[in-house]
Amino acid sequence: MKKRIIECLKESGDYVSGQDLCERLGVSRTAVWKAVNQLRADGYEIEAVRNRGYRLVQGNDVYNQDEIAEELRTSWAGRNLIFFDETDSTNIQLRLLAEKGAPEGTLVVAGQQNAGKGRRGRAWLGPRDSGVWMSLLLRPGFAPEHASMLTLVAALAVAQGIREQTGLDCGIKWPNDIVLGGKKVCGILTEMSTEMESIHYVIIGIGINVGIRQFPEELRDTATSLSLETGKETSRAALIGAVMRAWEGYYARFLEKCDLSTLNEEYSSLLVNKDREVRVLAASGEYTGICRGIDDGGELLVEMADKSVRCVISGEVSVRGIYGYV
Ligand code: BTN
Repeated sequence: MKKRIIECLKESGDYVSGQDLCERLGVSRTAVWKAVNQLRADGYEIEAVRNRGYRLVQGNDVYNQDEIAEELRTSWAGRNLIFFDETDSTNIQLRLLAEKGAPEGTLVVAGQQNAGKGRRGRAWLGPRDSGVWMSLLLRPGFAPEHASMLTLVAALAVAQGIREQTGLDCGIKWPNDIVLGGKKVCGILTEMSTEMESIHYVIIGIGINVGIRQFPEELRDTATSLSLETGKETSRAALIGAVMRAWEGYYARFLEKCDLSTLNEEYSSLLVNKDREVRVLAASGEYTGICRGIDDGGELLVEMADKSVRCVISGEVSVRGIYGYV
């Protein structure tokens, strides 16, 4: 019944009388009143005015399974949706589901992450109601060597989703940080399980800082959020829908050749490092050069002083701008 009441209120966009709701739902006034109170406890802001009825206050970011499901409008990504109000890490939870046979496209979303994982063993901040913390399951048929490119495909999808929902033009810091105003707004952690020449599954974990207003001291110079950049609230459910729809489109293009040939131009146009001096921190040592884009395998092309070009493989290195993060 709660779902139907929300549908009626959304559809109307204005006040709906208690009587009207009773008739449409075939229940008593007390039942409607109780359901409205439960919806309020779920986070919906519902106004009640004598002689007019109930009205859903627009713009409050209600975040739950139903809201996200309604915003998805995808053909497969996220159709099997699991929402946790709070969990350790969506990547960890999705791995457990994947091991039990969860289907491709399963999406785990959390309102809060208490042990979020970042790249290179770092922790990832996942405070309550402040971001999109989600992981998507893939079961690709291609060989494991193509999998590292999926992170770059996901970066394109996130940039597109943010653009659609906020109007902001994001950049990408190779391989997969989404950047606004020179600071990181989203990180992506891809993990996989393989056997010999085949992939069991891939987990694409995406963390988008949406409502974080203040970062810990050590992140303040390098991290940002959508609310800091726009000064407005962004609906996380709508953002997930936009990212997942974009993902389906980019992934279909990637699958045509299992490389980035069809996406390279677009990716390179968003690359914040392009034609800038970068510092590559590899296990074998550190060097600098000019970033010239990526190749179709997703490797970063770095032009050295002698004009030779080095291909940098993601995962092995960290790339920084000469003067800071970008
Ligand atoms: C990075 O270090 O840039 C990658 C951060 C990835 C964070 C996301 S949040 C959702 C998913 N679950 C996790 O534990 N990590 C990823």
